[in-house]
Amino acid sequence: MFQFVTYFLGALVALNLHESMVDCQDNRRSVCLLDDPPRQCGQFCLTKLHPIIDMVPGIERKLDRIEEQNTEAQESKKDLESRLQDLHTQLDTQLQAVQTSLQTLLNRTAQKALSKIPPPKFELIGSRFFYIETNNIKTWNEAAAACRQIGGYLASIQNESELEAIAAKLNPDSYYWLGIHDRGKSGDFQSLASGKTAKFLKWHTGYPKNLEQKLNCVWLSNGEMHDFFCNSKSYFICQADKEI
Ligand SMILES: *[C@@H]1O[C@H](CO)[C@@H](O)[C@H](O)[C@H]1NC(C)=O
Ligand SMILES: *[C@@H]1O[C@H](CO)[C@@H](O)[C@H](O)[C@H]1NC(C)=O
Repeated sequence: MFQFVTYFLGALVALNLHESMVDCQDNRRSVCLLDDPPRQCGQFCLTKLHPIIDMVPGIERKLDRIEEQNTEAQESKKDLESRLQDLHTQLDTQLQAVQTSLQTLLNRTAQKALSKIPPPKFELIGSRFFYIETNNIKTWNEAAAACRQIGGYLASIQNESELEAIAAKLNPDSYYWLGIHDRGKSGDFQSLASGKTAKFLKWHTGYPKNLEQKLNCVWLSNGEMHDFFCNSKSYFICQADKEI
């Protein structure tokens, strides 16, 4: 093979140098330069070139095959790239979903944990947390807002023992708003925090007065409840939870 190529190259060199004369005398040259290649080369060149020429179709087929394979390779590369991209997108989406659900879980856990910790000003009275305001007097609505501001709700009372525990901490003859009202339907006293019917009511003698349905808010004094004008100002009691 190497031999044939050498001859072939030699022949090409010879064919390209039309102007040169035949120069076979120079022994250093390995190839004679031909004056009239087609005729001078003749049978000799054709004999030597023939095997190479015979190889051309095979080489062409190989080149075609290589090109084909190259195209196929390019296509499968593109295909692979797009599948990788798809996978990447899918992974991203799944990762985001996982992150969101983790965040939600974390949020819920954090909220649960936080709900067990009372807001700063609140104290445990009985088995619930309360805040008793003894400095500022407010209307019922203002008191409700003030409780929300410190992280609680205007308070309702659960039962007799809770009422006694709270009453023990209040100043005698002072009035404290509770989160109990009948603003919706006269006589139907509800908890502002839970939105449900008030669990426990202990009226002072002669109450609730109702008085043409104008006394819609309940306050506590000397351990007993009174319904009164919501716009009156008094101290107030907040609770931390909104269950009662
Ligand atoms: C988790 O809580 C934070 C802060 O309260 C909030 O910004 C975020 O949107 C919440 N994420 C989810 C998934 O609930
Ligand atoms: C009264 O309510 C408290 C919650 O503040 C509760 O722990 C207690 O068991 C209740 N007592 C009665 C007698 O229902």
